[in-house]
Amino acid sequence: MGRPPLTDYEKYIRTEELLALQKPAADLTCHDELQFQIVHQVAELWMKLVDHEITFAAAQLKEGHTARALRALGRVRGVQILLLDQLSLLDTMAPRDYMTIRNALGRGSGQESPGFKRMLQLPDEIWPSFEALLQTRAVTLRQIYEQPDQHPELFNLTEALVDYDQNLQAWRMRHLLIVYRQIGVGTPSLKGKPSDLLAEGMKHRFFAQLWSVRDELFAEWTKTHPYGADKGYHG
Ligand code: HEM
Repeated sequence: MGRPPLTDYEKYIRTEELLALQKPAADLTCHDELQFQIVHQVAELWMKLVDHEITFAAAQLKEGHTARALRALGRVRGVQILLLDQLSLLDTMAPRDYMTIRNALGRGSGQESPGFKRMLQLPDEIWPSFEALLQTRAVTLRQIYEQPDQHPELFNLTEALVDYDQNLQAWRMRHLLIVYRQIGVGTPSLKGKPSDLLAEGMKHRFFAQLWSVRDELFAEWTKTHPYGADKGYHG
């Protein structure tokens, strides 16, 4: 007797293909390899959705549809939280198991992740649409941050972009903690010491102007600070 015909659910979700994308139990190099593979595969799917939503948000901004863009960016924020949260699953893995998996992975590295590479490019793709919108509305970033309540929609939009930047940095930091936990703090990886390599990435600000506008605001405020301009923010 053959297998029963596929249900509509199986056909639509394509469960057969999806569940065939992991190594069969007999081929796993260790028990934990299935989790390792699934966490990475799920991450690639979430990053595909982030790409889809940011590309859409950029197009919406171009048309001046800020509310719709904001809804898409809200979804991106949710996906980024999932990406961050799911990293903690890997804390349940023993370094010995990672070594075994690492052998199976060969010279493969997370740096080659197509989804992550897209996530690094997306800020440059949405920024021009955002800048064009500010021009159309004849508002500067400085004005938005000086008076957020005068520009509530634009403020929500700029903060949604800051969320993207911050959540990406949070992911990088959390990922580095996993690296320390699995391979130690000083172990060289394929491309140098991960702590140096990954910490370098953490310094990057994707929407530089959204951070420098904060510096500007505080520089201005510090001048009027009762403890004196020369003492800086903390007085
Ligand atoms: C046991 C868990 C993990 C370990 C031990 C680990 C280890 C590493 C190491 C050592 C690097 C530095 C580059 C290299 O030497 O290859 C790296 C980079 C990277 N890994 Fe992982 N990784 C883990 C889980 C993940 C997961 C779940 C993802 C999700 C896609 C991921 C994505 C990346 C990315 C995107 C980079 C480049 C990061 C950047 O440029 O800031 N890694 N990983």
